[in-house]
Amino acid sequence: MFDHVQHRVVQAPTAGTSTPDLAVAVCNAGGLGFVALGALDATGAGKAIRAVRQGTDRAFGVNLFCHAPARRDPAQEAAWIDSLRPAFGRFGAVPPTTLTEIYPSFRGNDAMLQVLLAERPAIVGCHFGLPVPDQVAALKGAGCRLWATATSVAEGQAIVDAGFDAIVAQGWEAGGHRGIFDPDGPDPMTDHAALVRALLPLGLPVVAAGAIMDRTAARAAMGAGAVAVQCGTAFLRAPEAATSAPHRAALSGGQTVMTRAISGRPARCLCNDFTAIDGAGAADYPVAYDIGKALNAAALAQGHAGYGAFWAGTGAADSVARPAADTVLAISP
Ligand SMILES: Cc1cc2nc3c(=O)[nH]c(=O)nc-3n(C[C@H](O)[C@H](O)[C@H](O)COP(=O)(O)O)c2cc1C
Repeated sequence: MFDHVQHRVVQAPTAGTSTPDLAVAVCNAGGLGFVALGALDATGAGKAIRAVRQGTDRAFGVNLFCHAPARRDPAQEAAWIDSLRPAFGRFGAVPPTTLTEIYPSFRGNDAMLQVLLAERPAIVGCHFGLPVPDQVAALKGAGCRLWATATSVAEGQAIVDAGFDAIVAQGWEAGGHRGIFDPDGPDPMTDHAALVRALLPLGLPVVAAGAIMDRTAARAAMGAGAVAVQCGTAFLRAPEAATSAPHRAALSGGQTVMTRAISGRPARCLCNDFTAIDGAGAADYPVAYDIGKALNAAALAQGHAGYGAFWAGTGAADSVARPAADTVLAISP
């Protein structure tokens, strides 16, 4: 799987901040680039994949969100909207009256499957769960290698049982959305090193993810048995990334917290006005994200950046502003 990859550094798919240019830069530097498709429709996904192909002839991966459909609860959604009314009021705005599922799951997204079958990316990675068996069979038939995120041994076992090729062991310290299949189920909150060790007996290659910011951390993860390291926050300040200016600026603060308030699923975010809100009553993912984005837009319109989804891992303060190729070389174990 890493035959043609010189450096065992995987650039994490980071929806909203990673770009085709970032994947190209990482691949051409000898790492493994990924394109995040979770927030794109089928047309956008096809364009993103073709944009990477124009910049590199090396293998790269794409990444999909495989969450269970949101449980719609009108009373809970109304209560969540109401609880955010004062925050909107700070900016002279009112919250939306209805919310939508802004990111459809790949499960059941046939248009997306058809794009993948036509484009045949080398690796298809999954977050928040697994595709349905027919999708798995179709992607394997097209020659794609399948990866999925696990936050526990039980999820790792489900990934093995589904016939996947590799497991991404996402530690509690990792930035962005936790890949946990059921956000309402028990969460072991395991760090990546312990999770890698716990997943190895399942027999698949394990990629370590979570606050891996330099070569020392990468070597430690490889020492725990990982076949490669997957880094998201380390690339957030790259010029090739689409990270917003306030998000880049906030990274140096470094303090992060796991919150459901922004999207309805647990995700590690730099502390800001949004993470100060208790997310216990949040609507289901991705319905809550709809109003989360609306609140951020209302705040930004008044010049306030404190409600952004500033996803980052616990190593945020160690992120460095430099070309992605330099980050690949700096982390390469
Ligand atoms: C801004 C951001 C967005 C992310 N988006 C995705 C995504 O779209 N798909 C995915 O599988 N993981 C996503 N992740 C999680 C990464 O795959 C990975 O687990 C994480 O970045 C590793 O921790 P680190 O950020 O400390 O390196 C995201 C992480 C960040 C920081």
